[in-house]
Amino acid sequence: MKWPVLLLICLIVISMISCERKPEVSLDVADSALIPLPKEVTGLPLSFVLDKETSLYIGKEDAVSFIGNELQQALVEDIGTRLPMIQKTDTTRKNAIHLVLSKETKSKSPESYTLSSNQDKVVIMAGQPEGLYRGVQTLLQLVPMQWLESDHWQGELMAIPGVKIRDEPYYTYRGAMLDVARHFFKVKDVKRYIDLLALYKINTLHLHLSDDQGWRIEIKSWPKLTEIGGSTAVGGGKGGFYTQEDYKEIVAYAAQKYITIIPEIDMPGHTNAALASYPELNCNGKATKLYTGMRVGFSSLCVDKEITYMFIDDVIRELAAITPGEYIHLGGDESHVTSKKEYNLFLQTVFPIVKKYNKKVMGWEDIYSAGVDSSMILQHWTNRDTALKGLKKGARVVLSPAPYTYLDMKYNDSTQLGLTWAGTISIEKAYNWSPQEFFSPDFKEQVVGVESPLWTETVTTIQDIEYMAFPRIIGHAELGWSGQTRLDKNSYYTVLVKNLMRLDRKKVNYKK
Ligand code: ACM
Repeated sequence: MKWPVLLLICLIVISMISCERKPEVSLDVADSALIPLPKEVTGLPLSFVLDKETSLYIGKEDAVSFIGNELQQALVEDIGTRLPMIQKTDTTRKNAIHLVLSKETKSKSPESYTLSSNQDKVVIMAGQPEGLYRGVQTLLQLVPMQWLESDHWQGELMAIPGVKIRDEPYYTYRGAMLDVARHFFKVKDVKRYIDLLALYKINTLHLHLSDDQGWRIEIKSWPKLTEIGGSTAVGGGKGGFYTQEDYKEIVAYAAQKYITIIPEIDMPGHTNAALASYPELNCNGKATKLYTGMRVGFSSLCVDKEITYMFIDDVIRELAAITPGEYIHLGGDESHVTSKKEYNLFLQTVFPIVKKYNKKVMGWEDIYSAGVDSSMILQHWTNRDTALKGLKKGARVVLSPAPYTYLDMKYNDSTQLGLTWAGTISIEKAYNWSPQEFFSPDFKEQVVGVESPLWTETVTTIQDIEYMAFPRIIGHAELGWSGQTRLDKNSYYTVLVKNLMRLDRKKVNYKK
């Protein structure tokens, strides 16, 4: 046979294969387990059917191609197949999943996106890569659970329900806090936690880097902080710390998932690890002993000494240099051995240091008394009235009310891990409160979000972290993204049970 004839036959065969009509499938999006609930979801009659020809069309921008790679890899893990990736924006292509950056997006939120899925294609579109990333998490939740259960795609029909989604977050700040001071967690454990948080569109990880029991971040100008102060943990374990390179690695890893790290150096209290490392930070010039117990409120930097402020200046300078996020968290809680007057004077000296290094102040609501302004974020944890006073002064507030959001509280009296000083928090209780009704609507613009703190006095491994956080934090993530609880609360638990099958696949040790 002559070459041109052979070529013609090949072309006909190829076009017959690619023009072959796909079978019609009708999956109902209402059967998907979408958490957080997107802002607008409209089901369409016909589903997008994946087959061996389905490709990923990914814009050429670096950030977009990174997100494309992550989607490709997630599909390998979820459904056992690697879809070919084409670096091109061409939404006319059928049988494709498209990730498209578009200038036409109207929402002000960089996290907004649209997702449409029909018999021809799936298109996720956003004004910013961040929005595409959030949209990809939604797409992965649209993959029907039965495909997750069957270990490998054998080539049978696989479909994603037909749908039009328009989505953006209600709150700009949706956070988790991990206390790496009471117990230290390796970089790989923090990365695993970041991976899981990203699935639920959480965008902030607050690291509690210092406390009485441990100093966990290398400060090059004060090396004994980690040499001595980092050498132990609650219960007397060996502790540990992040080098600045480790910290940068965590920051960069989180940034790829559009999660901002907020570092906390707690002061003037919760500072025994620093006081044990440097005698000169103590008013009597003597180093304290390392502390491995669980009491709070007994330590303080010496607020009258000039060296205290030189120390803080060095710490904030070094930390600010490796922290791309806007905020440094100064703690400020439970300073029970510092008089109110001294406490306020201390913070009034420290606030300008944070500003000097081009960062903004975040602190527990207690810092209110030192005078706050609209650049600051107060984190409400125990005293609603204090947080309210801060709101009245124009500060912004993140909601971490302990009786609903403290992930170190036991689920119930028989939970082995955790504490109970703020009560027990069942999966239902974690979800069954309203951030929007917490303060009067007058402060709507100032309440910027929700954060779930995990203190680690009793938590020692990544499995413990997973157990205490999941699934309660998923409820918080929905309150943060969607703003309000579903009208029918029971529908959330039905969806949650389905959604958790994804975590089974990832071998997450969530509370059953
Ligand atoms: C706190 O729980 N001491 C902020």
